[in-house]
Amino acid sequence: MNKTLVIGASGQIGTELTLALRQQFGGEAIIAADLKREADLLKGTGPFLPLDIMDKEILRVQVRRHEVKTIYLLVAMLSAAGEKNPMLAWHLNMQSLINTLEVAREEGVEKVFWPSSIAVFGMDAPKENCPQDAYAAPSTVYGISKLSGEQWCHYYFYRYGVDVRSIRYPGLISYKTLPGGGTTDYAIEIFHSAIRGETYNCFLRADKRLPMMYMDDAVRATIELMEAPESKISVRTSYNLAGISFTPAEIAREIKALVPGFKIEYEPDFRQAIADSWPESIDDRVAREDWGWKPSFNLKNMTEEMLHHISPGLAVSTRR
Ligand code: NAD
Ligand code: SER
Repeated sequence: MNKTLVIGASGQIGTELTLALRQQFGGEAIIAADLKREADLLKGTGPFLPLDIMDKEILRVQVRRHEVKTIYLLVAMLSAAGEKNPMLAWHLNMQSLINTLEVAREEGVEKVFWPSSIAVFGMDAPKENCPQDAYAAPSTVYGISKLSGEQWCHYYFYRYGVDVRSIRYPGLISYKTLPGGGTTDYAIEIFHSAIRGETYNCFLRADKRLPMMYMDDAVRATIELMEAPESKISVRTSYNLAGISFTPAEIAREIKALVPGFKIEYEPDFRQAIADSWPESIDDRVAREDWGWKPSFNLKNMTEEMLHHISPGLAVSTRR
């Protein structure tokens, strides 16, 4: 059986991606690994390994022991958390990738997935429909690590033939899992406040438009990219990917239509500057042309899904 290792499997994307891969390829074929404990949603669905990706030799042992052929690497410190601790973010984001690429090269792992982000783009990139090859001069350590990581992926493919594939995810919106320190986290927190009947105190301005995507679309895109024939993959840095672009005021309006008493206030903090440096929308034509990408969720059906699935018992307080 070809084994897949998902590293960072207890995180926001990792949990949902692991569940989707297990549904498609069988529980035993997908090994979840993380430094923190196994996510509750993963329990009983397949194997779990405690793993610190910063220890390359332990990674090698596990890849050999389980004859791993595919790795999904989802470990990173995100944009807002990274600005609070830039050196730690750089170290974690780069070393986790280098360890994975080296072990993949040395142990004959056939495919690697590693996500980049819209954070590779900075102030000088076009704000609207930011193209695949736009000038990328990131303003955060997170963005710098993603841009450098893209170049490492490109290098390992052309120098060593490691089949690394990557997507520049927009902000991801999910109800099963909570976000982990990003600038786009407001678009999840807002639902939790609405369901708890609390006023949401938004850390971005009302009119700040950002590229976002519902988690189901992001997970599907990831699996579609990884399952695409190698001949269809023309981008070996990372693919632009677009879902929905909206502002806090627009998502609040959509929520109010379903939760009439919902209230939002705005108190921008340091994350506003990060958001201001990113594009407002993304041109993902190359992903569409290469491997047939097409999103399914818009702001309306995503809002309905989120409000339907987050029960009052699951909603967490986002009061600061
Ligand atoms: P997350 O913080 O929710 O999850 C990361 C996981 O990595 C956590 O479970 C954490 O315990 C684990 N981890 C941390 N250090 C580790 C270590 N040393 N060894 C093993 N595991 C370790 O992050 P996420 O939001 O799920 O993001 C996953 C990936 O997607 C990251 O590369 C991120 O940059 C990228 N991405 C995310 C978004 C988003 O909106 N969530 C957008 C763009 C890109
Ligand atoms: N959602 C991520 C963040 O805000 C974007 O990569 O950091």
